[in-house]
Amino acid sequence: MRFIGNRSSGKQGHAVAEEAAARGAKVTLVTTTALAVSVGIDVVRVNTAAEMEQAVLSRADDADAVVMAAAVADFRPVQAAASKIKKAAGVPEVALEPTADILAALGARRRPGQTIVGFAAETDDLHANAANKLVRKGIDLIVANDVSAPGVGFEHDTNAVMILGADGAAQEIPLADKRAIARAILDAISTTRSNQ
Ligand code: CTP
Repeated sequence: MRFIGNRSSGKQGHAVAEEAAARGAKVTLVTTTALAVSVGIDVVRVNTAAEMEQAVLSRADDADAVVMAAAVADFRPVQAAASKIKKAAGVPEVALEPTADILAALGARRRPGQTIVGFAAETDDLHANAANKLVRKGIDLIVANDVSAPGVGFEHDTNAVMILGADGAAQEIPLADKRAIARAILDAISTTRSNQ
């Protein structure tokens, strides 16, 4: 049996949720993983991009800050097979269709005083691509990582990021464990909110 997924572990998103809760925030964590979560964090477990879209957008309006750390699929199969696809049927062609861009939807409906944070997974021109993405999605902060660098991003316990603000501010956080990266993200959110 096969499915289209990705190599993201969810660890960075979980670290942000844990750090926000440790700072006293009321936290809802929408996740595809089975990672353990501290008592007091409201967990919504989802499997697909469509389920994540519904779970996030139905709750986002009440949130002061929304952080989209998930590596959401950009495309999904038009049709999922209900039963096993037999080899004898020949080489299958999998038709794909775009998923909804959850972060762009959050940016479009962002209310005054709300802080929307995205991630940018890049392999080239990190700063320029991330700055572009921030503007394109209409958000307040973007956490950019070069996923081709050693120890960074998917599956690792560490990350190295550049946090960009809509005002052009850029802050580099060198390789650190994902909880330390989460602390820097929460600090950036606090600074942005105090200037809003
Ligand atoms: N994202 C989302 N919904 C999608 C795809 C991405 O909300 N369907 C969010 C991710 O959670 C992340 C941000 O958008 O916060 C950027 O994701 P990324 O994969 O870096 O960028 P894309 O928008 O997919 O653009 P590209 O593939 O062109 O780099």
